Amino acid sequence: MKRLLFASAAAIALLSTAGCSTSSSADERPWMNTSLSPDQRADLVIKEMTLDEKIAMVNGTMGMALRKENPDEKRIGAGHVPGVQRLGIPDLYETDASLGVSNGGEMRKGDVATALPGSLMTASTFDPAIAEEGGKMIGSEARAKGFNVQLAGGANLVRDPWNGRDFEYLSEDVLLTAEMAAASINGIQSNGIVSTIKHYVLNAQESGRNVLDAKLGEAALRESDLLAFQLAIEKSHPGSVMCGYNQVNGHYACESDFLLNEVLKQDWGYTGWVMSDWGAVHSTVKAANAGLDQESGQELDKEVYFGAPLKKAVEDGAVPMARLDNMVHRIIRTMFEHGLVDHPAPEKPEKIDYDAHAKVAQKTAEAGMVLLKNDNDLLPLASSAKKIVLIGSHADVGVLSGGGSSQVRSVGGDALQLPMPDGGPLSGFIKITYHASSPLQAIKARAGAGAEVSYVDGTDIEAAAKAAKDADIAIVFGSEWRTEAQDVENLNLPGDQDKLIEAVSAANDKTVVVLETGGPVVMPWQNNVGAILEAWYPGQKGGEAIAAVLFGDVNPSGHLPVTFPAALSQAPRPQIPGIDLVHKAKEDAKNKPANTDLSTVDLTGGVPPFPVEYREGADVGYRWYQKKGFTPLYPFGYGLSYTSFAYSDLKITDGENPSISFKVTNTGKRAGADVPQVYAAPDNEMRRLVGFQRVMLEPGESKVVTVSIEPRLIADYDTGKRGWVIKQGGLPITVGHHAGDASLTGVAEVSARTLKP
Ligand code: BGC
Repeated sequence: MKRLLFASAAAIALLSTAGCSTSSSADERPWMNTSLSPDQRADLVIKEMTLDEKIAMVNGTMGMALRKENPDEKRIGAGHVPGVQRLGIPDLYETDASLGVSNGGEMRKGDVATALPGSLMTASTFDPAIAEEGGKMIGSEARAKGFNVQLAGGANLVRDPWNGRDFEYLSEDVLLTAEMAAASINGIQSNGIVSTIKHYVLNAQESGRNVLDAKLGEAALRESDLLAFQLAIEKSHPGSVMCGYNQVNGHYACESDFLLNEVLKQDWGYTGWVMSDWGAVHSTVKAANAGLDQESGQELDKEVYFGAPLKKAVEDGAVPMARLDNMVHRIIRTMFEHGLVDHPAPEKPEKIDYDAHAKVAQKTAEAGMVLLKNDNDLLPLASSAKKIVLIGSHADVGVLSGGGSSQVRSVGGDALQLPMPDGGPLSGFIKITYHASSPLQAIKARAGAGAEVSYVDGTDIEAAAKAAKDADIAIVFGSEWRTEAQDVENLNLPGDQDKLIEAVSAANDKTVVVLETGGPVVMPWQNNVGAILEAWYPGQKGGEAIAAVLFGDVNPSGHLPVTFPAALSQAPRPQIPGIDLVHKAKEDAKNKPANTDLSTVDLTGGVPPFPVEYREGADVGYRWYQKKGFTPLYPFGYGLSYTSFAYSDLKITDGENPSISFKVTNTGKRAGADVPQVYAAPDNEMRRLVGFQRVMLEPGESKVVTVSIEPRLIADYDTGKRGWVIKQGGLPITVGHHAGDASLTGVAEVSARTLKP
């Protein structure tokens, strides 16, 4: 049991309020003996449970169902699973997600929570400590609101630059994804609640996500998407793994014996429980025997597969009783392990220090902002800039956030909500939402009384160009909204924004572009503007963070966790697989009214199953661009600073666990943080990230960075030998500022080695 925040006296006091109807003496409830292991305690509970109680624990409803039972219930989140009150096992109250305690739509009217930036922004910090602090903060809010399971830990690799949910994921790289997901999960779970890791696995696109069949051979899968989950799980022990909607190699992820029984539970020795995504279950016997432990959001499935049909299957022997006991065991042992039974989450909401939490959101945004271009040191803004015009993207009122189940109604409320433009099964629930953190107000406050800061909305391009011409500096905000349940169909900024930026930059050569995007975009105007700052979805303090970076109060230090292609044609799949089927289904549904009852939504949207071939294999992201010899617009790992950094003194230790050390020096005039990156090229082929470290340096200061290489990152997975194989020989090493840079080069002599799967 790791790092619980509670003193034992408090724990004893809480024990007596653990929802028990009878006395909780050790004689009557021997499982409350904390000197026993979580497994022993779970076994003791299970001995007392009836078949109906076991069945009740393996299927959960959508959180909304609780409101019908009790209109005053405050713990309305994404899901609910009854515990066993008579035995002192609390209910599971589940809330989304990785960006904060989500509360979109009707979920908890009037409730607010702290909104972190999108996960891509957190990953841009390349700083696990920042991810952990954010996780700790959102987990504490989840707990204070009465939740004991947070549906966080989005760890799918960004395989496609157009995925609608890229903003909820961390990166295209295995190591960066694993490190940041693990840190965030550790932060969440330090509150004595469970975090998931999701969506297991290869749930890499939103179009047709409930039906598509993702195709990728075992070795490549183990070396890429699975390895990101494997390393993250090893480093953070998330209480639950959420299996995704999609099929993988012909089986739904939530009924894949290979993924659940063989890889996760057998090879990786995972001891937590597998919960389904909401509406991701398609069978009873197949799913239960394949390793799914709990059906979630059952209203969204065709039937309650893990309700009466599971009971019958157990009675008939189609699902062994031992398997049902194992499903329940995994849930209860994890509840004991993470403190859910001994230190239950509060029944009534507790006070939250939103001011302190806002600082965490702002710090993350400040560290995750990526400066992509800065000609002639246009930024930071000079104090001589007295007339500044802001243009577009509602920068007068707020900053954009991503849509779907991760949506947080942030402290301060929504500045603006607009309807989802393009329909689809979830259009009744998802809205384009701006957090009330106005860049205009923040820039005005920072520019001071002597400056004239104005805003034009950019809908009239001529008027915007005129305003830019009259100003010392023009700051154009380019935004691109993404959401769960649909992908973006091209990488251009939507609407007339490219034209707007062209016109503004033609009118004023001191044009700064601030991007609020949920993934990579193309920039046809890149050569015409002076500076570009990628501000992602910057969370509820995004306006303030943007102002701090523009004025140089904060030296930008974010680095891209995804490649920005020069054109969509460079991407592994320039067109979204299945998009024609999605268009047709939308057309067919056009005259039907939008569904407003989430529990009766057909998640497929009428799209039939189709295959998605991941032909790039394990060469995801920057490795694909290297393999093809494409020069992207901005490479993975790229990011400028207001100072500069140099690397020297490369030292390599050979052997089974090669380690790399080198010196990083701040060669400029400002303090700043750098993220030197170490890449290795196994088989002399594409480089892959094997180490990184965020280093804060004063001007002129140097520090030595040492990274040791996780062996599986330089191994091949051998399906015949069922394990990882590292070949003897020279491993090319580079140290650089990004994936395309080789400031230092060397070779590590690596010893041959095989490792278990
Ligand atoms: C999403 C999950 C989420 C769940 C519960 C699903 O639609 O894919 O990420 O946790 O809903 O809200």
